[in-house]
Amino acid sequence: MPLLTRRKLLAASAMAGGYAAGLGLAGRFGLAAPLETQILKAHRTEAPLSDTAPTKNVLTYGDAGMPPTLRMTKDKPFAAQLVNALDEPTTIHWHGLRIANRMDGVPFLTQPYVNAGESFDYAFTPPDAGTFWYHPHCNTLTQMGHGLTGVIVVENPDDPKFDGEVVLNLRDWRLGKDGQFIAQFLPRDAGKSGTFGTVRTANWIGEPQYDAPAGGLVRLRVAITDVTRIYRMSMEGADASVIAIDGNPVPARFPLDSLMLGPGQRVDLAVRMPDTEGAIAMLKDTRGTTPKTIATFRAVGGSLKRDVRDLAPLAENPVAKADVSTAQRISLALSATAENAAVDSLCGSLGYSFWAINKVPWPGDTPDPTSPLAELKLGKSYILNVENLTPHVHPIHLHGMSFTVLASSTREVAPQVTDTYLINANEKVQLALVADNPGDWAFHCHIIEHQKTGMSGYLRVT
Ligand code: C2O
Ligand code: CU
Repeated sequence: MPLLTRRKLLAASAMAGGYAAGLGLAGRFGLAAPLETQILKAHRTEAPLSDTAPTKNVLTYGDAGMPPTLRMTKDKPFAAQLVNALDEPTTIHWHGLRIANRMDGVPFLTQPYVNAGESFDYAFTPPDAGTFWYHPHCNTLTQMGHGLTGVIVVENPDDPKFDGEVVLNLRDWRLGKDGQFIAQFLPRDAGKSGTFGTVRTANWIGEPQYDAPAGGLVRLRVAITDVTRIYRMSMEGADASVIAIDGNPVPARFPLDSLMLGPGQRVDLAVRMPDTEGAIAMLKDTRGTTPKTIATFRAVGGSLKRDVRDLAPLAENPVAKADVSTAQRISLALSATAENAAVDSLCGSLGYSFWAINKVPWPGDTPDPTSPLAELKLGKSYILNVENLTPHVHPIHLHGMSFTVLASSTREVAPQVTDTYLINANEKVQLALVADNPGDWAFHCHIIEHQKTGMSGYLRVT
């Protein structure tokens, strides 16, 4: 474990507090092993997010501070009870986890709303190890924008051993000079790249610093849980190798250098800390006009003299390989649509419709959604031909199943297994998958303003 700075220590103890004793599911369902139910209470709080007054109307799960980083183990049952102490409906979606449809947390598609004052029991067994995250799927621009985004670490006991681990939850906040929330979006920006936050944080801190053993290998798990921002990441002052993207090992490790990652995406890095005590490594975002330091890492103690080449590779996750020779093609075109009013719903509408998939703008979360984008047969292989007809970048995300990136019309791609692909302007990409998880699975852009103004749909697997 890296040595903890004071703020980290506070965060860590807050996290421990998030584990409520609760009534184990073991008694209720007669499972062999006792299972602790984690209570995730969604509620309103305030938090010190800027240099001015604490921000009011912040939303979080758990006791205080940011939502706890949830620790799970691959192939081991996990249970959490969502307690809705908000004054509006909510749900939890477990982004990237290939679990049963009824646990997926999408109102109408997979479960009813969890109304204010009610609770919902989630229970599942994560099949894949890696870095994932969780967030509501209801009134998402407001609920996520105000804080409801947390990281999930699914451990594999056979993972290679690191000398430390740091988890970073990256996100912005739309705050005014007084530190209080301002309008979550501007319509003219929702119709372009989305509306950016004004205060940028890692783990709800402006630019946190973590101590890590000098000369040691640190596993840095980074999740972009922001509603809008796309990052271009680099490390200064230390060698960082990309070992996993979106929870899945990369086909071949490569040095972190200007890696573009969008909302919803995660990257796992093996960072080789500098040998000299006190030396600082900096994780940077170089996208846009002013580079920003995301977080820094300070080398402490005598050098452990580790070598990244000693690190065993991560085990692949058990994602079925598509049979490309028999795979059926499904065309999905992302486009801008003429503006028309969206249907209001309990889960919030932004009141605009700017985007569409296959020319159909998602009407909002209603009891009567549009028909699926495609119907897939259980167990069959498919290739999604996704085409971006817009001049903007879209992190496009599929629930419930992971896919493999096969080819792109504009760049060299690795056969990465993932749940979110950052598709460039005018790019066409082929994504292969086996339809091995039955249910209705949301497919949408993870720039939440795009998702909520039309760029959403779902695939039906039966
Ligand atoms: Cu991060 Cu529909 O999800
Ligand atoms: Cu988008």
